[in-house]
Amino acid sequence: MLTEQERQEIAGEARHYPERRAVCIEALKIVQKHRGWVSDEALKDLATFLAMTPEELQSVATFYNLVFRRPVGRHVILVCDSVSCWIMGCDRIRDELTARLGIRPGETSPDGRFTLLPIVCLGTCDHAPALMIDEDLHRDLIPGALDAILDRYQ
Ligand code: FES
Repeated sequence: MLTEQERQEIAGEARHYPERRAVCIEALKIVQKHRGWVSDEALKDLATFLAMTPEELQSVATFYNLVFRRPVGRHVILVCDSVSCWIMGCDRIRDELTARLGIRPGETSPDGRFTLLPIVCLGTCDHAPALMIDEDLHRDLIPGALDAILDRYQ
């Protein structure tokens, strides 16, 4: 069941549109902001609120890769593996992260602190390699710099 807070935030987003479904991506992000991820139950409740079928909303959620349909850690690390970052050594960055965190891409650290995910271009190719942790972009990464970055996220 959606909380009153979630309903109000989604309704606020939808007030400029003739149909609530127009804000389905924003609504998914609102639910995720409050719960960390979007469960099957939350997706069904949200679909009802948006006057969509669960299948319609699921297709949006799976297309938009920043909607998490499984539980994630307290912080999500998105490592860009598109061409500019690949040329500039994103593999080394990913390998350093997997070694430091003891997890592979797609996994969450046992302490629930980090989830590591690959992502396509973050739009900052001129500062490759890049990654994003939660809402924060980290650019021009060099090996050895990750410890100081990770320490900011507890
Ligand atoms: S390719 Fe990595 S930010 Fe564009």
